[in-house]
Amino acid sequence: MPPSGPSGLRIKSPDVLVAESGADLEGHGLKRTMGLFQLVCFGIGAIVGTGIFVGLSDTVARSGPAVLVSFVLAAVTCVFTAFSFAELGGAIPVSGSSYSYAYATLGERTAFLVGWCLLLEYGVSVSAVAVGWGQYLNELLNSLVGWQLPAALSSPPGDGGIVNVPAVVVMLLAAVLLVRGIRESARATAAMAVLKLGILVLFCAIAFTAFQDGNLTPFAPEGIAGITSGASVAFFSYIGFDAITTAGEEVKNPRRNIPTAIMICIGLVTVLYCVVALSAIGALSADEVGDKPAALSLVVNQVTGSAVGGGVIAFGAVVAIASVVLAVMYGQTRILMSMSRDGLVPRVFERISPKTSTPVAGTWIVAVLFAVPAAVVPLDVVMNLTTIGTLAVMAVVNVSVMVLRRTRPDLPRRFRVPLFPLSPVLGIAFCAYLIYGTGPATWLQFAGFLVVGALVYALYGRRNSRLGRGAAGPPAAGSGDTRPTSVTGHDTLG
Ligand code: ALA
Repeated sequence: MPPSGPSGLRIKSPDVLVAESGADLEGHGLKRTMGLFQLVCFGIGAIVGTGIFVGLSDTVARSGPAVLVSFVLAAVTCVFTAFSFAELGGAIPVSGSSYSYAYATLGERTAFLVGWCLLLEYGVSVSAVAVGWGQYLNELLNSLVGWQLPAALSSPPGDGGIVNVPAVVVMLLAAVLLVRGIRESARATAAMAVLKLGILVLFCAIAFTAFQDGNLTPFAPEGIAGITSGASVAFFSYIGFDAITTAGEEVKNPRRNIPTAIMICIGLVTVLYCVVALSAIGALSADEVGDKPAALSLVVNQVTGSAVGGGVIAFGAVVAIASVVLAVMYGQTRILMSMSRDGLVPRVFERISPKTSTPVAGTWIVAVLFAVPAAVVPLDVVMNLTTIGTLAVMAVVNVSVMVLRRTRPDLPRRFRVPLFPLSPVLGIAFCAYLIYGTGPATWLQFAGFLVVGALVYALYGRRNSRLGRGAAGPPAAGSGDTRPTSVTGHDTLG
């Protein structure tokens, strides 16, 4: 297996990726426990959270009633990119998501930078989501016992506090569940996913009873600029559908189930978000919803004239957002596991405990590392960085699908992007549009982050890369895995 592609890029063959992960081999590596239903619940768990429960009011503040257009624009971006994810997830069913796809198509340097951006999409977004969780926890405490945590202990310095304790606590709780194993985590995630969908449907049913057409005018008070920046904020609430591809090694029949689960999730949440936004603005005006903390609870309290309904919604939000923390943190540990196998990050991330079959050390490192921004960075900053990092990754995924069609037309594909190459080209265009909508401050922060990433690759990743040392290759037939630090417990081939 040559370590380089024809252009001199360090490209890793999809066959090697699949062989190394054991994706075609039962009883090897991670346990294959997730079916389609569990996978869809896992996707919903990763997607529906802070974005709709907390971010909606920010989107409304920017777009007005045209928040519906913003949601549709964000959804369209996701749909085109989801097609690309679905094709790649079905063709290269390994943990690691967009990182692995970039490695197989665009080479190691791009793959490293994609992995680096995934630290924003998964790691920093866990921090953002955990911060949103703290807000609704306070709302819930308020409606249950008439008391809430003081700002000093529930907000970061930029938002009038000192440290966000609830955000740290929810991250550590998620780590405890994850190290106990995917079985328990998947079951808990499924229950939470069903509950939070129910809570949002309940919200719509209550809010629609007070619907007034007049609240939809003026439709776009801030014009196209408002709709564009609103779409960038709305995009945060869609992030997570690609987490499904990070579970590639734990899914039964991944070639069929991964693309199907992605499509089901994206369709479901798009309809749900539009209906939630419409009912919220229909019940209260855009001005009343815009920029309000715990806006969904506020709407229900106003419509019902009591604090009980808002308490129920707050409870749903606390559960919903906790499940996002769980699913997104899971995704981060699996991406780091893939990068570690490739030698691009330290080996501790690929170590799997023989007792639980989970990456225990990697999970704790992720939880502790990203609890720091959760504790001390304001929500809008972590949300914007998550958004721009994710959009950059998604643009690369759309490029990857085009490259793989050209370099590996022979690879079996359970799902094929429709209208190829128009769909990935439009995916890239929409990602660029939403990146534009995040604004200059976020562009600059992101540029700095990329420069640091390029330096880390040059100083660590490139030197320690297994592919660069010519060490990567498929496991020798009948002799087990050739990885230097092999998965233990289930690694019993040959
Ligand atoms: N989409 C996820 C959320 O809304 C990140 O919390």
